[in-house]
Amino acid sequence: MSDDYRQLLDATIQHLEGLKSRGVRHVAVAPETLRALALPPVRIQNSEFRIQNEKFSTAPSVKIEPTISVPPKKTTAPAPVAAPKVVVSIPQIEITSSSPAKAAAFTALRERALTCVKCPHLAASRTTVVFGVGNIDAQLMFVGEAPGADEDEIGEPFIGRAGQLLTKILLATGLTRADVYIANILKCRPDTPGQSAGNRPPTPEERATCIPYLQEQIDLIKPKAIVALGATAVDGLLGKTLGITKLRGNWQMYRGIPLMPTYHPAYLLRNQSLSEKRKVWEDFLKVMEKLEMPISAKQRNFFLQA
Ligand code: URA
Repeated sequence: MSDDYRQLLDATIQHLEGLKSRGVRHVAVAPETLRALALPPVRIQNSEFRIQNEKFSTAPSVKIEPTISVPPKKTTAPAPVAAPKVVVSIPQIEITSSSPAKAAAFTALRERALTCVKCPHLAASRTTVVFGVGNIDAQLMFVGEAPGADEDEIGEPFIGRAGQLLTKILLATGLTRADVYIANILKCRPDTPGQSAGNRPPTPEERATCIPYLQEQIDLIKPKAIVALGATAVDGLLGKTLGITKLRGNWQMYRGIPLMPTYHPAYLLRNQSLSEKRKVWEDFLKVMEKLEMPISAKQRNFFLQA
């Protein structure tokens, strides 16, 4: 058994045990993942892989029913082994678009991301994969860093304190969360072994492993503008850059799409000064102008000194 295989197997077992100890009875496992795990040293015969349509739930589910495979007739092959019969399901949500082909491609991408185990340590520690949320035909897309504890629990980006502030800023522009698409550089919560709380930024390896999912999301959505929230999002999309303080407020390009770097809303929670709020608001005004959104005089004056 190769080290990689053993590591993946250990991570999977650890993940399932962790979920079980938290009372979870169902997990999502992609057919291709199961097939890969079923390869040598144990050859699983007569396995059945089936996607099961279920009503939406926040918890992925998989039922594992042990069965005995049918022994081959008069052969010298090894004795039959107990083979798991696995029924796989992924939480179903309806992804709609003016283009059915786009919706289908996005749905397939989501299913691949939701069953990803490319970072075994994150697959073992996560509660959910936080794929992204919103309108896949949106003109505006937000990219953050990585899910925090709240997002990991629920499976939706930016729903904790920073997310609530982002939602408020969005409402100030006249948009709602349903008008835009929100995703992160990393789709799993960065683990913090040995710590019961706290966050850490994604490592360069984690970012490199996960970024293809985000790139596919962007290529499918084709927004007119992207807002990168904070240094990790800016670095993750643009590579090593001047730093968020110098870059914010200045249009960049990413995959042919104008990208506005701005501060992460968590920064505004830490620094409540009017001047920092105004900087972020000015970045949003530039985005509104780019999208040719109406801007009232009142909106133009938000967070200016009286
Ligand atoms: N911070 C982020 O960058 N992303 C989230 O989804 C939540 C908090």
